[in-house]
Amino acid sequence: HAPIDVDVSKLPPGQQITVVWHGNPVFITHRTPASLARLQEASLKARLRDGASGMVQQPPYATNWHRSIAPEYGVVVGICTHLGCVPTYAPTPDPSTPIANWPGGYACPCHGSKFDLAGRVFIGAPAPYNLPVPPYSMPNPTTIRIG
Ligand code: FES
Repeated sequence: HAPIDVDVSKLPPGQQITVVWHGNPVFITHRTPASLARLQEASLKARLRDGASGMVQQPPYATNWHRSIAPEYGVVVGICTHLGCVPTYAPTPDPSTPIANWPGGYACPCHGSKFDLAGRVFIGAPAPYNLPVPPYSMPNPTTIRIG
């Protein structure tokens, strides 16, 4: 499989696109400053189910708080780690969800797992692990090369 290049120069802040890589959906998100601030909230850590996110779920360059190379671009495999449904992009905080203080991100339509915009799963979800970060690089600031 050859790597695929995704041009994100036209992807506005707050928007997400899905590309297919090895037959799997990969979500590429242009995070806003507000959503980046939510990812850094001190109280977030205690609510993460897979906070440390073992190396299985991400390459070494994505072991930081934003789980990506550039903070403003999220890149995760869009397959729920519970039973494999494709989560829905839902970037706005939703206080009505049974998962407390969920800051928005991705919501699984099958059994209610909630992930933030870094693909981290919240306590109370059936999904045991964060969404995986695929191998990727950024040959320039607006190109994401997956694979
Ligand atoms: Fe996503 Fe079950 S498959 S919560």
